[in-house]
Amino acid sequence: MQTKVTKAIFPVAGLGTRFLPATKSVPKEIMTLVDRPLIQYAIDEAREAGITEFIFVTSRGKGALEDYFDHSPTLEQELRRKNKPDLLEALEATNMDSGAIAYIRQHKALGLGHAVWCARRLIGDEPFAVILPDDVIAAEKPCLKQMVEAYAETGGSMVAAMEVPQEKTSSYGVLDVREDMGSLVSVNGMVEKPPADKAPSNLAVIGRYILSPNVLKNLNSIKEGAGGEIQLTDAIAAEIAQNNGVYGYRFRGQRFDCGSKSGFLQATVAFGLARDDLRDDLFGYLQDVVTMGQAAE
Ligand code: UTP
Repeated sequence: MQTKVTKAIFPVAGLGTRFLPATKSVPKEIMTLVDRPLIQYAIDEAREAGITEFIFVTSRGKGALEDYFDHSPTLEQELRRKNKPDLLEALEATNMDSGAIAYIRQHKALGLGHAVWCARRLIGDEPFAVILPDDVIAAEKPCLKQMVEAYAETGGSMVAAMEVPQEKTSSYGVLDVREDMGSLVSVNGMVEKPPADKAPSNLAVIGRYILSPNVLKNLNSIKEGAGGEIQLTDAIAAEIAQNNGVYGYRFRGQRFDCGSKSGFLQATVAFGLARDDLRDDLFGYLQDVVTMGQAAE
């Protein structure tokens, strides 16, 4: 059983309608948390987990993503000339080795499962990670690294999971838990966006996965599911029916749903407060806002 994971798929072909009009011309993944685009957080997390091959599933209008990872010799030269080593270092951290990134087009936004399937030829017959860049996770040890370590023990397929309020289960894929072993749970089934009263638990799947290549074979025959989309959840659930192990992993860290406006704003505040150069100013401002709010009441 191969448990070493070196390839990751980044599905970035969605329309990002919740951020219109911004996403009319700017890919959602290029939107900035403090001073780094969402995609940079995802790439850094993958690198720290040992990923060496990065596969982007893109769509029309996502050219800015490709440009972002390109080298920028003129800018670098200018920063060198102006003696700005810190900025130069920040810029160089975005450079990727030649051949490390591949781009595949999803021609129609048919769903996350379909986006992952589009990358099947680049994955071949080995386990792979899937990272959704709009789920940003603040953690001491990066979430995917935690999962890669757990996966070395379990094999099979693994999804990142977190407890959500029961009434929110209809926004997530939800796990039907077989055995709860603490950070790890084994899974009997998975349901995409169940109505709250039908959800088998309140343990929800979020945007980090390590999947067996067999999931790609399952996707060959998966039909449209919840929301009329081809769901990755359904292809993972099919693994359980074939008696292949599927696990949920309760990661340690805080997840921000940067695909939603409120989650994005919360992440901006949290990541701003985590920065030495911004904390005092931002904290002072937030205190003023709260005090003024209380006075107004
Ligand atoms: P979302 O459900 O957030 O959809 O996709 P979206 O299109 O990005 O955003 P909204 O809902 O219209 O605002 C979750 C992830 O799956 C990818 C998205 O790019 C995002 O990373 N995805 C979704 C695809 O790559 N292709 C699809 O067909 C659907």
